Amino acid sequence: MEARLRVRRFDPESGEGARYQSYALEVPDYATVLEVLLQIREELDDSLALRCSCSSAICGSCAMRINGQARLACKTKVSALAVDGEEIVVEPVGNMPVIKDLVADMDPFWQKVRAVEPWIQPKGPPPEREYLVPHEVMRPLADVMACIMCGSCVSDCTVLETELSLGKPYEQTFLAPAALAKAYRFVGDPRDDADAERLLALSRLEGIWDCTRCNFCLEVCPKTVAPMDQILALRRKAIEQGHEEYLGARHTLEFEKTVRESSWL
Ligand code: SF4
Ligand code: SF4
Ligand code: FES
Repeated sequence: MEARLRVRRFDPESGEGARYQSYALEVPDYATVLEVLLQIREELDDSLALRCSCSSAICGSCAMRINGQARLACKTKVSALAVDGEEIVVEPVGNMPVIKDLVADMDPFWQKVRAVEPWIQPKGPPPEREYLVPHEVMRPLADVMACIMCGSCVSDCTVLETELSLGKPYEQTFLAPAALAKAYRFVGDPRDDADAERLLALSRLEGIWDCTRCNFCLEVCPKTVAPMDQILALRRKAIEQGHEEYLGARHTLEFEKTVRESSWL
């Protein structure tokens, strides 16, 4: 089959802005977008920059926007998107600075993940022996732990996009779905004793109450993480633990009260 790709190109050393370049080439019917991009590099244009490693939807490095939506290029078949030979538009992930062509700078992504302190914080003396966690306690966390840190959800998060478009400095923007899903992984872990501090920090500005529940992170996540669901779980836990003074929490509680008392939305 013929694959036609329209790829966003950007070379900071050229002194020019971004542009789009079209390529057409014969590829096997089963080809993925990643395979086509690699074939372009081998046969047509070795200046095209992209990032990839496993080709198996495991490492998370090949996330990019394909036809306007974040996807793993190695998991996206050309035939699924171009049924009648349509051109496929390939761009770097959104909400992150572009280094070159399809390679984005993931530093802001990692800053947000680090901000939620993604490590177990036990209190008290070290345990005398291993801590066996019951299966039923860890099972709900398995989906979150499947995150491959690809950045697709952050790329397409509408809150982050809006804040960045308004010129907000990255470090003051919404923590975004991947970091918040990671935060839930530790709040839900029975070996972690820092829930109170974590939920207090996450309830503040730029945290769990900034999500507008647009669903985009649910749609684009290539794994089972369901980031928005984890954010909602964090909200429930924050309210359960009495963090009710924040605007989002107050809104939720008042909304519930109105419905209970008057049946009106
Ligand atoms: S549901 Fe919330 S976290 Fe997910 S993309 Fe939308 S605003 Fe961002
Ligand atoms: S939550 Fe899903 S989309 Fe977001 S970084 Fe993890 S695997 Fe990627
Ligand atoms: S190359 Fe590893 S996830 Fe696509």
